[in-house]
Amino acid sequence: METVTMACSLLDGARRPLAIRFGPLLLATALLAGCAAPGPDPARGFDLQAHRGGRGMAPENTLAAFANAIDLGVTTLELDIGLTADNVVVISHDTALNPDHTRDASGAWLPATGPTIRSMTLAQVQGYDVGRLNPASNYGKPFAGQQPRDGERIPTLAALFAMVKARGNEQVRFNIETKLDPGKPDETAAPEPMVRALLAEIDKAGMARRVTLQSFDWRALALVGQLAPQLPRAYLTTARTLRDSRWTQGLNAGDFASTPLLVKAAAGDAGKAPVIWSPAFADLTPAQVQQAQALGMTVLPWTVNQRADMLRLLDMGVDGVITDFPDVLRDAMRERGRPLPRAGA
Ligand code: G3P
Ligand code: CA
Repeated sequence: METVTMACSLLDGARRPLAIRFGPLLLATALLAGCAAPGPDPARGFDLQAHRGGRGMAPENTLAAFANAIDLGVTTLELDIGLTADNVVVISHDTALNPDHTRDASGAWLPATGPTIRSMTLAQVQGYDVGRLNPASNYGKPFAGQQPRDGERIPTLAALFAMVKARGNEQVRFNIETKLDPGKPDETAAPEPMVRALLAEIDKAGMARRVTLQSFDWRALALVGQLAPQLPRAYLTTARTLRDSRWTQGLNAGDFASTPLLVKAAAGDAGKAPVIWSPAFADLTPAQVQQAQALGMTVLPWTVNQRADMLRLLDMGVDGVITDFPDVLRDAMRERGRPLPRAGA
């Protein structure tokens, strides 16, 4: 047993230290249950999210990208996580090393998909350089303006939290996606150890107030609802996952009149935490936005990279947008007279 002191934002909005004793398995439950975690809220303004830290500007899911996004001014850093063989939470979109932006210790591009994150220790994972796009790959073509940063490693989530704290930044939020695939259980940790490890890391850093957890695999969100019911949950959807109930907590999308109603059913009414519907932007209609908001959810489409689409979605009344190009979204917001997130800190 150990004692941790952390700052929680309680329901009255006051910040005060909270000391709780807990055993390792109950860590997340014990600490998070007492802490309100306000999520995206229309009253707090439009949520500008830098996808993978803003992949259009800096190498994805690296500390360099997250620092760049904070310098620019975003509401939220979007990122993806996995669990290493030694159970460290690391920031990676891919469940296995991606040859499109990964070089080995000798500086050679990986010729093909590399080992899974789950099969490597943190030390092994951090032997690779993810600071530059492979010029031979088509993957990087839409991100030609990305500024390389040779030497960047796949970071730990703890390192991101430490970097943000070291900068004295107290406002940027984190939208953290658990990368799971119900069809590929051997590629990652199982949902429960992954979610528990993630919640433990969030607690250790005292970041519960600034976090939203997102997943296409709604098993992870159900676990978050049980273990940390006051954390905001973002239900990711796309046509592919909506066709397969393994992604949607066993619910059949065809049994529901609309996707917002499906998400609402999955999220339930129990928790106090905000529920976010995060759809693929091209699928979204104004009627769906209105329905989701009427059901008490916020709407956060991904991944929107064209200015015209950003303007259209702003006009549609979405609550935020996830983009690889936070600089372009800031311009679009400026054009629509929206207040901009503070730059720097
Ligand atoms: O946050 C949603 C978005 O990140 C989902 O797509 O594949 O880039 O993680 P992906
Ligand atoms: Ca993601």
